[in-house]
Formats: sequence, structure tokens, C-alpha cells
Amino acid sequence: MNHCSSSSASFSRSYLPYQQQLKIFNKPNRGMKGTLSRNGLIRCEAVESNPALEVEKIDSSKTAVLSALEQLKTSAADRYTKERSSIVVIGLSVHTAPVEMREKLAIPEAEWPRAIGELCGLNHIEEAAVLSTCNRMEIYVVALSQHRGVKEVTEWMSKTSGIPVSEICKHRFLLYNKDATQHLFKVSAGLDSLVLGEGQILAQVKQVLKSGEGVLGFGRNIHMMFKCASTVGKRVRTETNIAAGAVSVSSAAVELALMKLPKSSHATARMLVIGAGKMGKLVIKHLVSKGCTKMVVVNRSEEKVAAIREELKREAKGEAKGVEINYRPLPDMLACSAEADVVFTSTTSETPLFLKEHVEYLPPVSSEVGGLRLFVDISVPRNVGSCVSEVEGAQVYNVDDLKEVVAANKEDRLRKAMEAQSIIAEELGEFEAWRDSLETVPTLKKLRAYAERIREAEFNKCLSKMGDDIPKKSKKAIEDLSRGIVNKLLHGPMQHLRCDGRDNRTLDEVLENMHALNRMFDLESDMSLFEQKIREKIEKGQK
Ligand SMILES: NC(=O)c1ccc[n+]([C@@H]2O[C@H](COP(=O)([O-])OP(=O)(O)OC[C@H]3O[C@@H](n4cnc5c(N)ncnc54)[C@H](OP(=O)(O)O)[C@@H]3O)[C@@H](O)[C@H]2O)c1
Repeated sequence: MNHCSSSSASFSRSYLPYQQQLKIFNKPNRGMKGTLSRNGLIRCEAVESNPALEVEKIDSSKTAVLSALEQLKTSAADRYTKERSSIVVIGLSVHTAPVEMREKLAIPEAEWPRAIGELCGLNHIEEAAVLSTCNRMEIYVVALSQHRGVKEVTEWMSKTSGIPVSEICKHRFLLYNKDATQHLFKVSAGLDSLVLGEGQILAQVKQVLKSGEGVLGFGRNIHMMFKCASTVGKRVRTETNIAAGAVSVSSAAVELALMKLPKSSHATARMLVIGAGKMGKLVIKHLVSKGCTKMVVVNRSEEKVAAIREELKREAKGEAKGVEINYRPLPDMLACSAEADVVFTSTTSETPLFLKEHVEYLPPVSSEVGGLRLFVDISVPRNVGSCVSEVEGAQVYNVDDLKEVVAANKEDRLRKAMEAQSIIAEELGEFEAWRDSLETVPTLKKLRAYAERIREAEFNKCLSKMGDDIPKKSKKAIEDLSRGIVNKLLHGPMQHLRCDGRDNRTLDEVLENMHALNRMFDLESDMSLFEQKIREKIEKGQK
């Protein structure tokens, strides 16, 4: 057995609810060996590849960017993007990539703004957002060129994670424009989650919005897209039965542990929960709902554990009465593990809490609980190193192994997914209409610039005719007059180019007006805003 492979060897592509839309380029490489974690912290896995080489190749191509701009203008692949920027998602999810990869790509929330800044510094990226959860690492961007945008983001992912570009390409999926938006809406609705309908993903989508507030690069399109996704998530949860049963990754983790324990030991198995955050709390609650009356909870600080105790007391309906939750600080973790049959881990630690050398000295567990100490780790990055699987007497499960539990209710999943489709379609239509209305923005800008050029030229002509001794006051009056005339003349056309729902104009009408104005004033012949943006980015990058 390859000692580096984790228990997620059960990873398979058979479960792909939206596989028609996901462009998966190759099969996952199960034998993949890991490397350094994104922060340079050494994980259990051995290093094999050399991502630095990949990055070097990328850097050398930077010099060719200017000629690439020429190519971009004539490339058929980019014909569409000449009209407007594209929304693109470059993602690796629980359906396409194993946890070993996802954990290296994961970006903690505190670093999202920095990541957005770096992404928007790439030549063809205008806006960006990072959705990094235990199920997925997805980067949403507005790209000036689809092809080049995808390439740059993939290279950036490789650089930050240490995973070679070729490996990322094997496991990534790419979706564009409407498909990308639809995917995010499904994600937010909990339809793409491993545990269908779980509500935590909606909280995570909202968190992306919140932490993007005021971040340069979390731009208008991306902001609106996540805002609409949050609406979809809320609507699907309130208007359908998707949330029925209070499902979560934590409840699936408890179900998995119970599946693995002999039935006779369900009430007596010694339960240890490490981490008392959102997920830890849900593990505790689910254990209680399954009849567990005594457990140990290890956390760095006691407050969260005390709060969970209080919450359970407040909610106490029969089952939670007399539940004993014993708090122990983090340094006691191994001592507590020695006295536990099942260890649930759910912390946001960036490095593993358990390695082989910690676990191999733990006393064996009794045959009444199956003779194996179960580690159920729902953390990404993982809290239990894959090397722990090598320890005799230990059985490690990670978030990918929950597939075993969720596969059981496939029909229910499909039915729930159907219920949510119409809400997603409705909100998608609204978002697309909003985005279409932005089409007119370049024409508005070009028309204004065209008028301004004429105004300025005529104003200067007038000044030169009037001579040098013209009083400041008169000069200002003439300038104001010229601006006033231009603004009044532009008011009508500008109004007819706006489609913001404040009047009855339809989008078709507005687009027709836009084309007419483009023709009348020959605005298309100006250097496109698009091209301007790319040139500006390249020039900035070269400074
Ligand atoms: N949220 C989700 O929907 C979800 C779903 C599935 C899996 N997960 C995974 O579950 C894990 C926990 O997520 P969460 O949402 O519960 O996070 P959370 O609410 O932020 O809680 C984080 C927990 O981790 C502890 N912690 C943080 N750094 C630690 C360290 N270096 N050593 C030991 N403990 C540390 C915290 O302890 P203190 O209280 O002392 O700060 C807290 O108990 C993450 O790996 C996440 O990817 C989350």
C-alpha cells in the first residue's frame, strides 16, 4: 500500500451531479504525492514534482505578452470577449479533486483580500473572488480574455499551492459566463455540496460578499453575482424542502462513525470532539441527537465549549437533558485521545494535529467498539495526517469519505435538486439581464468622450480667437456654457442607453439605441475600452 495515499482513495468521478456542465479534463490521479503546504508547512506527504519549473515557464511567457495582445485581437477564441469581459470560474471541487489537492489550494478567509489583489494584478483579470471551503476551491474572475485569463489564474494557483499546472489542469473544471453564474447559484443553494442541502455553504457565500466589501478587485460584476447567489441560497432554503433534516458535513461525519462502530457500542463508545467552532458544535449536537450523553471536547479556549453547553441547555428537549460535555485544553489532546474510541476533528489549524508518531503510542481500543480507533476528520486542510492510516489500530476518514454516507439518499437528493431549479433559473435570468444592461456602459463612455473632445477643441479655438487678455471670469463662463450645452445635448441619448429598471424601456430597445448611436457617431472605430484596459494592465505590469 502506498503509505502516502490517504483514505480518500474512495474518491471517484461517479458522483458528478452536474458533470454535463463541468469540463473535467482528465481523471484524478489517485497516486498523487503531495508537496509542501501553501504556507511552506510540511505535511505528511512526500514531495515529487517541481512546481518552480512550471512557474518559470510561465514567467518567460510574460515577455511575449505584448505580441499576445496582437494575437488576441485576431484570435477566434477571443472574438466573443471583444464584446465584453467574461465571467469565468476555475475550480476544483469535491467532485473533481481529492482532499489532498484541495487542502493545498485552500486559502484561509483572512487572506482572501490579498488573493483578490494578486489575481487582479494579472494581465487579463479585472475582478476576482475566492470561494475556498472544505468542498471546493473556486476562483471566480472577470477576464478580459477567457483563454489567457484561465491560463494566468491556473498558473497563479500553481504558484500559491505548489501543485504543478499540469496536475491542476487534470482536476480543474472551467465554466464561462452564464454557466459559471449558474454553477455559483447551485453551489449557494447547496446543490453541489457533498451533503446536498447543507446550509453552511450559504454562510460561506455570504462571507465572500462580506469580506469582499471595499476590496479593490471585488468588482461590480463579481459583487452582484455573489449577491444574487446569496439570494438564491436564501430562497431555495425557505421556498423548498432542501433544508429538511438539518443536514451538514458534521451530521454526515457522525453518521459515518456510527456506521463503522458495532451497533451494540453506539451508546457506550467514548467520543472526543476536537474543535468547538461551527462544525465542532454541529458534531456535538448531532451526537446528542443520536443519544450520546457524555463526550470530551478539546479546544484552545473554553468559552466556545461553555457557550455550546448553554445552547444545548436552552434547546434541551428530552434528549439533551443530562448531557455531559467535558472541556479539556488543547495540550491535553493526546491524553484525551488515549481515552477515546472515536475522535472527530474540525479545526481550522493549517497543520495536522495528529501525525503517525502521535497515534502509534496510543493504547488500543477495546474489541467491543471494533478494535479500531476511528479518526473522523472533516477539516480542510486535514487535521489528521494521511500517515496516521499506517498505524495499526487506527482508521482515518476524511471529508471525501463522507460520500459513503451521502450515497444512500440519492433519490431524495435528485428530487430536492429539481425543486430548486426554477428558483435558480429565475434568478439567473435577472442576473443576466442586469449584466446585459452593462453592455451599454462602453458606448456611454465613448459618446461622452467623443462629445468632450469636440467641446474642448471648440473651446480652445474660441479662446485663441479672443486673445490672451480675456478675463478669468469670462473664460470660466465660456467653459461652463460649452459644458452646459454638451450635457443638455447628451442627456437624451444617455437616458436612452440606460436600462436600470427605473422606466419601461426594454433591454432590446436599449441595445438597439446603443447600436444606432455607435453607427451614427462612428464610436466603434475608437480603440475599444477592452483593448485600452489590456494595454493599461500590461503597461502597469511592466513598470
Ligand atoms: N464551515 C463549514 O461549512 C465546514 C464544512 C465542512 C468542513 N469544514 C472544515 O471544518 C474545519 C472547521 O471549520 P469551522 O467552520 O468549524 O471553523 P470555525 O468556526 O472558525 O472554528 C475553528 C475552530 O478551530 C480551532 N482552531 C483554529 N486554529 C487552531 C489551531 N491552530 N489549533 C487548534 N485549534 C484551532 C478554533 O479554536 P478556538 O475556539 O480556540 O479559536 C475553533 O474551535 C475547517 O477545516 C473547515 O474547512 C467546515
